[in-house]
Amino acid sequence: MNILVTGGAGYIGSHTCIALLEAGHQVVIADDFSNSDEKALEAIGTITGKDFKFYQVNVARFHRLEKAFTEQKIDGVIHFAGFKAVGESVENPLDYYANNLKSTITLLKLCRKYKVQQFVFSSSATVYGDGEVPFVETQNLKPATNPYGETKVMNEKILKDYAKANPEFAVILLRYFNPVGAHPSGLIGEHPRGIPNNLMPYITQVAKGLRDQLYVFGDDYDTVDGTGVRDYIHVMDLAEGHVQAMEHLQKGWDVVNLGTGKGTSVLELVRAFEKVNEIEVPYSIAPRREGDIALCYADTQKAQRVLGWRAKRNVEDMCRDAWQFEKNNRHEGQ
Ligand code: UD1
Repeated sequence: MNILVTGGAGYIGSHTCIALLEAGHQVVIADDFSNSDEKALEAIGTITGKDFKFYQVNVARFHRLEKAFTEQKIDGVIHFAGFKAVGESVENPLDYYANNLKSTITLLKLCRKYKVQQFVFSSSATVYGDGEVPFVETQNLKPATNPYGETKVMNEKILKDYAKANPEFAVILLRYFNPVGAHPSGLIGEHPRGIPNNLMPYITQVAKGLRDQLYVFGDDYDTVDGTGVRDYIHVMDLAEGHVQAMEHLQKGWDVVNLGTGKGTSVLELVRAFEKVNEIEVPYSIAPRREGDIALCYADTQKAQRVLGWRAKRNVEDMCRDAWQFEKNNRHEGQ
């Protein structure tokens, strides 16, 4: 298949492009580099030895994006492009609603015009809020605690309504748990601008000496050691889940969790990182972060049943590959 990957230069998008190319698909990337750069594109070529097409375009701009649809014969779309910083979304809600909703609507209008009926959407476990774990696809969603999460809920609704109105259309909503790690080559990985919001990039920057210590947000949750528990998933497992989703699309809509089903606490992750990489990660306990939940992990049965997919890599692989990338990766001013 010839697959349009929006946000294909980004963290999860670039790893997915590699998995698609390695599975024999063709790839057309649309990205405006608002949170990524050319280096990821070069790395995709180096790692796979394969060619792909690239359009530098904001996916919310109909006429600019249309060029990709007129010049390429697109069979399916994987839609990653979107703003994703939780704190920023609270400060600038209009930017988040405008960008994240308009990009999906624009893409769907182009899919309708060019009769593209296969679609995979990058959703998030954030839609489960503080519900009962393990999170199952059928459970009721809780209101999101921030505009970023709300755009995921709304985009899911837009895609479901579009699928209901267009019986030939097939869409899978993939709810990711906590993607971490990097391609084992160390050439691509997560490269946040500024201070990392997420745990793993913060840990790798502390290990590298770029930050003094990790602040563990709360040690009084009702969990194994009081720190927050998450379902960390290796980004290459996640990438391969997208290939499986694309290949298992059926008319109508479906929703599938991509996680490992296993919870790991903040301190367990720190210890695993220290052990596998033989490097110390100093930390101190800080107050809870607003909006955080104690426990978040997936029920993974549906992914196995519907996609024939399960995560293969463990927490040690995630820590090793994240560190390998951080060591290769230069930050501004370094
Ligand atoms: C966060 C977002 C979620 C988004 C996901 C994308 C929030 C509240 N949620 O999930 O909506 O889909 O990222 O990757 O931001 N932690 C620390 N110290 C740190 C950073 C994190 O102790 O410096 C802890 C957190 O309290 C949490 C765990 O590490 O228990 C994971 O945090 P993080 O990587 O930010 O992911 P989530 O909060 O699960």
